[in-house]
Amino acid sequence: MKDCILKRLKGTGSQYVSGEMLSEDLGVSRTTVWKCIKELRKEGYVIESSSKKGYKLISAHDVINSCEISYNLGTELLGRKIHCFDVIDSTNHYAKKIAFEGCDDGTVVIAEQQTAGRGRLGRQWHSAGKKGIWLSVVLRPEIVPSDVQMITLAAAISVVSAVKEATGIVSAIKWPNDIILDNKKVCGILTEMNSEMEQVNFVILGIGINTNQDTEDFPEDIRDIAVSLKTFLNKSRTEPAIHKSIDRSKLIRALLVELDRVYRMVRNGDIHNMIDEWKKYSVTLGKEVSITVKNETYRGIANDITMDGKLLVKCSDGMIREVVSGEVSVRGLMGYV
Ligand code: BTN
Repeated sequence: MKDCILKRLKGTGSQYVSGEMLSEDLGVSRTTVWKCIKELRKEGYVIESSSKKGYKLISAHDVINSCEISYNLGTELLGRKIHCFDVIDSTNHYAKKIAFEGCDDGTVVIAEQQTAGRGRLGRQWHSAGKKGIWLSVVLRPEIVPSDVQMITLAAAISVVSAVKEATGIVSAIKWPNDIILDNKKVCGILTEMNSEMEQVNFVILGIGINTNQDTEDFPEDIRDIAVSLKTFLNKSRTEPAIHKSIDRSKLIRALLVELDRVYRMVRNGDIHNMIDEWKKYSVTLGKEVSITVKNETYRGIANDITMDGKLLVKCSDGMIREVVSGEVSVRGLMGYV
């Protein structure tokens, strides 16, 4: 009921809608309407009320719920179903569960806080409450398992373009899936897949964006290599009282719109254009890199990426190596000097 009332308020824009009309149209009592309005206010919505005219939605303060995210989103596939949680162990974990249960392509899971957020290579992902965007998407692309890297590249492109669109901030991609700002990591992407030999059943795309953390919100051991959009935005402002926060729901909506667009490129086989877009945002190509795979480390210059998303590294012996996965450090970024 709360969602229906919210949709009505959103739909009327700057107009008031009377309590009587809401209760008649939705078939509930005036008291129920009033209780829902109270709950919406508690969630962060600013709703003006007038005994004569009724209710008017003024603004929403950092509210993340499925109605807020999906209202007039305009995507083809992404976010037709959105599951939102206050606290969860890991959105990737929950997304995997509903993927096994048969949820639709493009289903989204979002949490305000993760108690066991997971990063790449078995690492932990620090996911402080209400400070970031912790989100997973279930995708069902018709691709072979060896092409799954396409999905990671698509996700990285959509994060960079959504961040630009929603905040004006220009970030960049470190191959394959770290988003970099100010030489530090602002977002990580964890792609997990369930497949047969020849066909991917589903991909879980987990995206963690550091949005509103202050430096001291990060654990001490990552303070030098992690950054939030908010700290970047306020770098030049010395007075904390005037620090601006990032509107997370605006950024999530932009992200879903962008991911919808780039995922369509993957589904349509428009890989050339997608790779070109990825290259435009890359901070890896042309740089000296150090690659660690299992126990082996080698250095070289990142030359190019292949049409299936592998990194081509020219080593000092002149040999070109294809990198599929592993730990990649780019000179000048995240503490690699
Ligand atoms: C990395 O190590 O860079 C990847 C981090 C991915 C974190 C996100 S947050 C949402 C989703 N749920 C998880 O448990 N992890 C991913």
